[in-house]
Amino acid sequence: MPATPSAPTGTHQDLQFHQADPAQQQAELAAGLQATPASVSPKFFYDRLGSHLFDAITELPEYYPTRTEAAIFGQWLPDMAARLPARAVWIDLGAGSCAKAARLFGTVRPAAYLPVDISAAYLSQALEPLRREHPDLPMLGIGQDFSVQWALPAPAVHWLERLGLRGAPRCVFYPGSSIGNFGPDEALRLLRDAHAVCRQGGAGSGLLIGVDRVKAPEVLEPAYDDALGVTAAFNRNLLLHVNRQLGSDFDPAAWDHVAFYNRIESRIEMHLSARSPQTVSWPGGSRRFAAGERIHTEHSYKWEPAAFADLLQRAGFATPLHWTDARGWFSVFWAPA
Ligand SMILES: C[S@@+](CC[C@H](N)C(=O)[O-])C[C@H]1O[C@@H](n2cnc3c(N)ncnc32)[C@H](O)[C@@H]1O
Repeated sequence: MPATPSAPTGTHQDLQFHQADPAQQQAELAAGLQATPASVSPKFFYDRLGSHLFDAITELPEYYPTRTEAAIFGQWLPDMAARLPARAVWIDLGAGSCAKAARLFGTVRPAAYLPVDISAAYLSQALEPLRREHPDLPMLGIGQDFSVQWALPAPAVHWLERLGLRGAPRCVFYPGSSIGNFGPDEALRLLRDAHAVCRQGGAGSGLLIGVDRVKAPEVLEPAYDDALGVTAAFNRNLLLHVNRQLGSDFDPAAWDHVAFYNRIESRIEMHLSARSPQTVSWPGGSRRFAAGERIHTEHSYKWEPAAFADLLQRAGFATPLHWTDARGWFSVFWAPA
């Protein structure tokens, strides 16, 4: 249930909408754990430790997406900037550390920056140094869950209005191929929501989105199952987060990290697999797991560029442009609204 934040007044503010209703979250977690097969939404990866572990993953030799996307921006940013709207309101979906958007500020010169993330505490911490570095750039951190539906919250629209930016062009920025965490139907829903947010802005608005591409499993699988075990720690940390949210008694050491490429579905699947038979309990419920039984924790869909361009157009965007790297591993799309 959204919190009712006080209206932001200054140019540097945070809004906290994701004061998730604990009862609702517990019901969602219990239902997922009691289903067959059991599952927990990937949004539960991102407590504070999970956000730090994700940042560590991006440094791993096997994790090519962050480096490859950065190389595309490194090579093509002037070309991209020529097509992006000037003095736009940048809305960064799943901003995390905000580092990716911040690297573009010098070139794209946004009029305001609105990062959105479910991990509100981490976002607020990430914004502190950014605000010191860019004292003249208005920033509004938004703690929000966009997994079911997404719109810019009314206080954020009022904040833009007070800055005289209500009719400014909007650039919704969704890098990192996080769109891959959504299946094709859910991805279409989120892209439609992003299109509506863009259309509420001025002429020239659009979506700048990073998308990971179909490639050999020999490249894909190590990126989600690294030699140092950082992705395994990231996956198991979800159990600690669930313990706090649900009051459950998962022992992370009793679960193995499993990641593999499902060619038919074009997606990496991450699971946790019970090392031995065990019962996990929480107030009001329990689940018996057999040895080897899994909890599904993440999908990461990989796209062919033509199929993703089609998805963008089905969401309402005009024909997109896209840039890629020399190996054709990753694509960045600019989809005018
Ligand atoms: C894979 S990280 C990407 C971070 C950064 N944008 C990047 O590309 O490196 C995904 C980010 O999205 C946030 N996130 C995941 N699910 C979310 C949801 N349902 N609503 C809002 N933010 C979410 C996470 O907290 C995390 O910061």
